[in-house]
Amino acid sequence: MQSFAGVTVPGVNSNLPGALQGALGGRRHMLYIGIDLGTSAVKLLLMDGKGEIKRIVSREYPLHFPRPGWSEQNPEDWFFQSVEGIKELTADCDKAQIAGISFGGQMHGLVALDKDDQVIRPAILWNDGRTGEETDYLNQVIGKEKLSEYTANIAFAGFTAPKILWMKKHEPGNFARIAKIMLPKDYLAYKLSGAFCSDMSDASGMLLMDVKNRRWSEEMLKICGITREMLPKLCESFAVVGTLKPEIAGKLGLSGEVKVIAGAGDNAAAAVGTGTVGDGACNISLGTSGTIFISSKEFKVDAYNALHSFAHSDGNYHLMGCMLSAASCNKWWSEEILKTRDFASEQAGITKLGENQVFYLPYLMGERSPHNNPDARAVFIGMSMDTTRADMTQAVLEGVAFGLRDSLEVAKNLGIRIERTKICGGGAKSPLWKRIIANVMDMKVDIIESEEGPALGGAMLAAVGCGEYPDVKTIAEKVVKVAGTVEPEPELVRKYEERYQKFREIYPAVRGIF
Ligand code: XUL
Repeated sequence: MQSFAGVTVPGVNSNLPGALQGALGGRRHMLYIGIDLGTSAVKLLLMDGKGEIKRIVSREYPLHFPRPGWSEQNPEDWFFQSVEGIKELTADCDKAQIAGISFGGQMHGLVALDKDDQVIRPAILWNDGRTGEETDYLNQVIGKEKLSEYTANIAFAGFTAPKILWMKKHEPGNFARIAKIMLPKDYLAYKLSGAFCSDMSDASGMLLMDVKNRRWSEEMLKICGITREMLPKLCESFAVVGTLKPEIAGKLGLSGEVKVIAGAGDNAAAAVGTGTVGDGACNISLGTSGTIFISSKEFKVDAYNALHSFAHSDGNYHLMGCMLSAASCNKWWSEEILKTRDFASEQAGITKLGENQVFYLPYLMGERSPHNNPDARAVFIGMSMDTTRADMTQAVLEGVAFGLRDSLEVAKNLGIRIERTKICGGGAKSPLWKRIIANVMDMKVDIIESEEGPALGGAMLAAVGCGEYPDVKTIAEKVVKVAGTVEPEPELVRKYEERYQKFREIYPAVRGIF
């Protein structure tokens, strides 16, 4: 184990100078950069051709909540910190070995540029809830059936199309200036290479793409009042979209031949990084958001479009449930309320697994799957005079697990049986949380050597794009290693089943007050 920038990375080789590594390997090994453009920070990862993680760095940027339920970031902050991050990441390696850069990016965000490539307004993010009216218009006036026919999905407040409609209505001056619409990671690729492209997995979340046929939906463009020229060219996640612009290459000290590969939405990239490819594989991501991701060789839609039906970055498809606040619930509870960053000590006092009388609804930013309600809010319920601080912390961890179970139930209703899942994201660092999830979901939870899902997945997509591996499935099989499994415990599964049935009753009972 080695520690870089405060991050401990299992299986990291010593930092041999690049030339020496090349000599030892008998041939020059190429290096790949994966950029995970997250909501609180950008994480950059350097991987060699064998899939070994050489270094990870992370750089934060601000997240703005200009009004309750709104969530914005400045795209220029993303780019600035990514460039600084690449410099830091590559400071000690042989830069000539770097062959490709790719991404896993926060999804759904609206980045709008004018004809001079200036950012028109701050990006409106995936967890922004301002578009309640536009979402209702799309679902009720255009109609869910039509939306599902055009895109394979219905409207959720965080998706990009309702944001475009919001801008058209509330900021007509800004809307009139739009020359290009892009997703967060596509802005990075555009700034680095000049290529105006998006990949199928990320573009699926715009509600502008005909997911089944992997092309833009002309009907949706008309509904949103935008033209085809405003949207990026669609390509697969492992496609090379360009090379570094000469001035950027110069600034980074890298060759202008370094390839920029399209990359994927962070969940599809995390799926690559955890080996969640092929048919019926599952990954849970416990990041700012919480997602359950089920890969599929075939295109599938559930009867109520409760799960997102998106393209996968391996060229196939996936279903996904997304909760807007997952590890962020624990972060909010610990840092803002308990005033501690020591999550492990806080969780050490938890003893009542399966027997907690306190419930927590994890809807700090509203909820996407399955309630589709931007106005929902978090709730604690069931406290008594003997409730402890540990019970409340436990309720937060359990509430997130129950929220993920809600999405699993939808998948079960589709006839999908999932026995095991991978897990990644910051929350996956907690052994207790993984145990709770295994028992609430009644699933085996496989732990990957590295929980750096999207950044590793991004680097893996870069390696495929550069021809080091023939396809995503091959690199996933070769590179991703399961380090252990958390098994469900029958007695706890039974207890959590009872608790989950109670949890399900809370949202319908309190919904009226939001
Ligand atoms: C997925 C979603 C989130 C973001 C987080 O639909 O909205 O997982 O991608 O970055």
